[in-house]
Amino acid sequence: MAKINGNYLELQGSYLFAEIAKRRTKFMSENPGADIISLGIGDVTRPLTPAVVSSLHAGVDEMSNEKTFRGYGPEQGYDFLIETIIEHDYKARGISLEKNEVFVSDGSKCDVGNIQEIFSQDSIVAVMDPVYPVYVDSNVMAGRAGHFNPETKRYDGIVYIPTHAENQFIPSLPTQKVDLIYLCYPNNPTGMTLSKEELKKWVDYARDNKCVILYDSAYEAYIQEEDVPHSIYEVEGAKEVAIEFRSFSKTAGFTGVRCAYTVVPRELKAYDESGNAVALNDLWNRRQTTKFNGVSYITQVGAAAVYTEEGRQQIKQLVDYYMTNAKMIRDGLASLGLEVFGGVNAPYIWLKTPNGLSSWEFFDKLLTEANIVGTPGVGFGRNGEGYFRLTAFGSRENTQRALERINKLSL
Ligand code: MLT
Repeated sequence: MAKINGNYLELQGSYLFAEIAKRRTKFMSENPGADIISLGIGDVTRPLTPAVVSSLHAGVDEMSNEKTFRGYGPEQGYDFLIETIIEHDYKARGISLEKNEVFVSDGSKCDVGNIQEIFSQDSIVAVMDPVYPVYVDSNVMAGRAGHFNPETKRYDGIVYIPTHAENQFIPSLPTQKVDLIYLCYPNNPTGMTLSKEELKKWVDYARDNKCVILYDSAYEAYIQEEDVPHSIYEVEGAKEVAIEFRSFSKTAGFTGVRCAYTVVPRELKAYDESGNAVALNDLWNRRQTTKFNGVSYITQVGAAAVYTEEGRQQIKQLVDYYMTNAKMIRDGLASLGLEVFGGVNAPYIWLKTPNGLSSWEFFDKLLTEANIVGTPGVGFGRNGEGYFRLTAFGSRENTQRALERINKLSL
């Protein structure tokens, strides 16, 4: 008899964005003419930049020629992409990395979801609350989260660290033993950042307590302020304790193309049952070579174009476009008297729902009265209740129209 992985039965409801899509579809079937504006899931809307497009075309041409055709590539990614990543994303910031420390993949969601596999089943996981749901759900699937407690609305095996307006969204260090710490900066969903000093506290904590930090930096390209760290490796000692995830999805409009990378430094160790230190780089390499066959050559050629001079200029324009939307949303909502956070170094605006509405009540109000889809804060965790997330990834026109509609609501 085939038995299921019972851990899956511990998952709560459906994946947040699937639930939102379900509600949107229901509304549309009941209101067929409704002109819905989606500022919910953080999905990009601008087309690929010209430098990337011509590089993708060149990749296709190579693949269509017998002499330059390629079959399986290295599971870890092609050297030409890895070298340019190291040069521009790290060396330019004074961080040295070896080629075998960078693993190209088809997305950060997969990598942050899969990384937990290389850690012990009994690892204690710490997440911020609110949090990107993949960190929690992937550990639930692995049986590391314990049971969901409907009263506390939390898994009893996970350590949640609250962030909210009262602590300026700056998480405190754990007060109980933890092994794995998920950090996401610039933060999804709150759009907030951590200063280098704050980040250093986490690195020092991880070094003192033999923890590993899983640092999701998918929104790094959106950092505007000078003093915000772009990589956790800007902090001394971080290579001993942190894995960093970066993505081309939000940086270069690759959500539908799929390319990302993960840095697993050689210095980074975790421990076996006898307390011997083991290089996590070897384990991740073993995992990837077994379960992953690499990102397509064409995609990697396209990703490499992001780093050319032309490519970098175009990416900057792309980021500026979305960040102008972010400022419009921030300023527009603030002028209505709403309390808004984020949107300065990230494409997400996190707002306090007006008049004490719950997150889902505000979702329904926006959907039914303004035909706007956003993301209820509570979908990211208990502490997200009473908050709501809007994305700056819409088109300029839709962002403008959404603000006009919100302006007309009685809030
Ligand atoms: C989000 O809306 O939070 C993101 O689109 C999720 C993701 O990148 O997977």
